[in-house]
Amino acid sequence: MFSLREFEALARERLDPAHYDYFAGGAGDEVTLRANEAAFGRLALLPRVLRGAGKLRSDVTVLGHRAATPVLVAPTAFHRLADPEGERATARAAAAAETIMIVSMASTVAVEEVAAAAPEAALWFQLYIQPDLAFTEAIVRRAEAAGCRALVVTADSPVHGVRERELRHGFDDLPDGMCCENLRDVNGDGGVRPIVMSPSISWDHLDWLRRITALPIVLKGILRPEDARAAISHGAAAVIVSNHGGRQLDTVPATIELLPEIVAEVRGAVPVLLDGGVRRGTDVLKALALGASAVAIGRPVVWGLAADGERGARRVLELLRAEVEQALTLCGCASVDDLEPGMVRRS
Ligand code: FNR
Repeated sequence: MFSLREFEALARERLDPAHYDYFAGGAGDEVTLRANEAAFGRLALLPRVLRGAGKLRSDVTVLGHRAATPVLVAPTAFHRLADPEGERATARAAAAAETIMIVSMASTVAVEEVAAAAPEAALWFQLYIQPDLAFTEAIVRRAEAAGCRALVVTADSPVHGVRERELRHGFDDLPDGMCCENLRDVNGDGGVRPIVMSPSISWDHLDWLRRITALPIVLKGILRPEDARAAISHGAAAVIVSNHGGRQLDTVPATIELLPEIVAEVRGAVPVLLDGGVRRGTDVLKALALGASAVAIGRPVVWGLAADGERGARRVLELLRAEVEQALTLCGCASVDDLEPGMVRRS
């Protein structure tokens, strides 16, 4: 395996077709899904030469947490569909790659067990604020107790996205023996509640969350400068420019196209992260040159897991890190701090 795309082909062979389509698919006509990757292809890199950059480092620090590479693991659901060890394997892979894993609230391994499987892993916890705030608070307490270092609140999902690939397969439930372990009602009857996506969630809920937790809050799913500004004024410690990998509102633009206007609005007040369509080290460089502090990858990690479990996920992260380092060197950079907007041109 020499590139992330090759992992998708192998994962497709190994996965149940319904599960492959669950992971691969996007909403509607999948316009945004395609756009995320295609938009990177329309950007060209313009390197500097003879800068005597010397020894290279590609690490970044986000919210005080060092990652050996500027590529984080985005939160994706249901890893046990891809590998029996599920999110345990992903956490071990992220720890080996020395990067941050954002554990999905919809993980098929409980957050406590994910943390126990990889004690050295740096974990952030992704949260869909549930209309039942007492239940939401119980989940937050579990994530805190498990040692998660930030809460990533996903803001782009007032309803579930409709993905026709899932409908065609009739994929609407997990196989027997698998469930969203973080949705277990620990204070109730121990049953597993469904994730409720609610259009009534508002900035007031973010204020509430800030009051009940000391963890930094990262707002994921920001596509407009005014929402980035609102996120900061409501206390977000970072924002993630994300369209949920094209799985929520179809026809929104590619994230890399929206990044510059959001970076301009935020003006360094908080870190701006990006996900969606990052498949090459050169994509990572483009995002960082345009002002992102780091990026995250969703599907490629799942393809690695499906292809070869923990080893596959780790290889995906290592491949991308090697590509980032190669591209940085070729751009005349000694670290990600040397990247600048002038290194990216619309082609
Ligand atoms: C996701 N994503 C996601 N986001 C989130 O906040 N909570 C979640 O549980 C999930 N689940 C999920 C499942 C699957 C199968 C996919 C593909 C995506 C969105 C994810 O965090 C991220 O925004 C995208 O995956 C990034 O795009 P790429 O890297 O997959 O192109």
